Amino acid sequence: MKLAENIGYEMRIPCVKAQFKRFPDGEFYFRLLEDVEGEDLLVVQSLYPPQDQHIVELIYILETCRELGAKRLIVYAPYLAYSRQDERYLPGEAVSSKILAHLIQEAGASELYTVDIHNIKVLDYYRIPAYDLTAAEEIIRYFVSKGVENPLILAPDGEEDAIRRAETAARAIGTDYDWLEKHRDRETGKIVTVEKPLKASGRDVVIIDDIISTGGTAANAARILRKQGARRVYVGVTHALLAEGALERLKAAGVEEVVGTDSIPGPVSKITTAPIIARKLKPT
Ligand code: R5P
Repeated sequence: MKLAENIGYEMRIPCVKAQFKRFPDGEFYFRLLEDVEGEDLLVVQSLYPPQDQHIVELIYILETCRELGAKRLIVYAPYLAYSRQDERYLPGEAVSSKILAHLIQEAGASELYTVDIHNIKVLDYYRIPAYDLTAAEEIIRYFVSKGVENPLILAPDGEEDAIRRAETAARAIGTDYDWLEKHRDRETGKIVTVEKPLKASGRDVVIIDDIISTGGTAANAARILRKQGARRVYVGVTHALLAEGALERLKAAGVEEVVGTDSIPGPVSKITTAPIIARKLKPT
């Protein structure tokens, strides 16, 4: 709700009045309290844990708005759940990202926007226009506003999209960026980061990533940075999923502060993604 209100404020558009509640047995109830016939609506629903609950809520909202005559249903789901399973890797597996795309489209969505999606290939499952935005600029501006000086921006893995995010953040404030290569052992799940010389000595460094789950990726990068003499190490992440122990793991690796966006409400959610979607949708 808060995110929808922030977007409404940014875009100078009103929020539709609606009633949401859960019955004692857990079932969801949704009721529109306004006429939406002929309207273009922006449906704001981030699909963070419990993902399935948030997906069902989104589907109810879309179907109801469509049945009651809304003209366009633009979905803003800054955290798009199930974006890891983009293929059937083992025989018999559900391709969950494809199923989610099907559900959202069939419920009446006309466009979809998400932020820093884990795997952009997932958007190919949408027949409606589907776009990935980035929070990299908002994240780095947050740290600058808190007094971080001339930081090195670091992508903790060498994937193309991770490097692009670091570059976007660096360009926004006119600083430099770099990245580390990372591998995850498929059997043990252990994360191995390859050390290389970084221009970190005596400097503040901001590690930028799409997701913090266990915190292992960012913690490895932080340890390398501290070893190479970084002054202060920060972590800015779009989706702070924060599996149990992640914050402690990052602190133990020498991280000063972890900050995430409102794609996942929680203890480190300090940056709103409202301006990102507002900029994209606002008529220029
Ligand atoms: C990797 O592909 C992602 O960009 C993140 O680095 C990763 O999902 C983070 O996971 P964890 O916090 O468990 O290392």
